Parts: sequence; C-alpha cells; structure tokens
Amino acid sequence: MSGEGDQPQAIRKLAPGKLVIASHNPGKVREITALLEGHGLDVVSAAELDLPEPEETGTTFVANAELKARAAADLSGLPALADDSGLCVEALGGDPGIFSARWAGESKDFGEAMRRIETKLAAIEGASRTAHFVCALALAWPDGHVEWFEGRVDGTLVSPPRGDRGFGYDPMFVPDGRTETFGEMDQDEKHTISHRADAFRQMVAAVF
Ligand code: IMP
Repeated sequence: MSGEGDQPQAIRKLAPGKLVIASHNPGKVREITALLEGHGLDVVSAAELDLPEPEETGTTFVANAELKARAAADLSGLPALADDSGLCVEALGGDPGIFSARWAGESKDFGEAMRRIETKLAAIEGASRTAHFVCALALAWPDGHVEWFEGRVDGTLVSPPRGDRGFGYDPMFVPDGRTETFGEMDQDEKHTISHRADAFRQMVAAVF
C-alpha cells in the first residue's frame, strides 16, 4: 500500500469537477467542504451516494485514509477524498493512535477514553505527557492513482480535562506554545493550527 512508503514525487493535480468525500459523518463532510471552497469542486458525500463504509483494517492513519478513499473512488468512478485522524501519546507507544475513536466505545464516551489514558499514564513512573494529533488525507482516483498527506500538531496532556468546545480528546490537549486546551480555545483558532489544517494546507498546495 502506498501509505507504507514515501509520498510519490509526481503529484497529480485535481481538476475541477465532482469529488466524493468518503465519510458518512455530516460534520466532517461540512468541515471538509468548507476547506475545499473556491477550487471549483462539486462535492458529494459517500452517504449521499449510498456507498458502504469499509472496515478500517489498516495499521497506519495513511493506510486507513487510503482504503476509505480507494473504496469510494472504485465504487463511484469519481475521485474521492478521505481522512483518518487520532491522538498519539508518546509514553503509551503512540496509543490510542488509529484506535482513538474505538477507545471511546460504542457510546462514544470520550470522558472514559481520557480517563483510560490517565490510568495508563499513572501506571508509568515519570511518564512524559507529550502527545500529538495526526490527520492523514488520501485522495484516490478511479484509475488507481493515490496521493496522501499527513498533518500533525504537537502538545501536552493536562489533567483534569478542560473546556467544552471542540470534540473527542480536545479537553486534555494543550498545543505547544499555548496555555488553553483545544477544548477551551476558540474553534476558528483551533482550525488554523490543528493537524487537520496542516494536512489540508499541504494538500491544497500540492494538488490545486
Ligand atoms: P476517525 O473519524 O476515524 O478519523 O476518528 C478520529 C478520532 O480521533 C475521533 O473520534 C477523535 O476521538 C480523535 N480526534 C481526531 N481529531 C481530533 C481533534 O481535532 N480533537 C479531538 N479528538 C480528535
């Protein structure tokens, strides 16, 4: 899978026209649509096309983004964009990583997922509280070509979690150079420094 190696040198440009956002999450589709505005794309979601959601069987963020984009491009016959993201805690060997959503369980209880991180850190003497968020983007074409980009934001974990803006692990993450958590921060500000913003900046610079 191309996600296991380096980004290919020759970047393919994305021509104006239809683009499938390979996600069934309306919030994610809205955010991605806004980030792609002004590039002549006619965005349609995987849910609107009634495409099935593939199982995330990859072992990296890029591999999971790629398999979602690949499946949507193959089934729709259109270029497709997918993302995969999560929180990596250094002292936990990068966990929860690609399992970030799954640590919150069926009920999507991120309070519980954050407590699980704290319990694991407490069991490690002198554990570092360094962490980073990752966002991988994969853009797949029906002929098999794929481009991928990986964004990252570094920071420190705080306990107890603070702030009720944002989502997921935001309340426990203070990005480097700031004092507020992503959960306390103005969300427009978060969106300029986040892992997702970093990945999109790279993609926009490369494919348009
Ligand atoms: P995905 O939808 O499979 O990419 O799952 C990403 C998961 O990673 C989310 O459910 C969150 O738990 C976590 N995550 C990703 N990005 C963020 C973020 O910006 N803030 C907080 N949590 C995030």
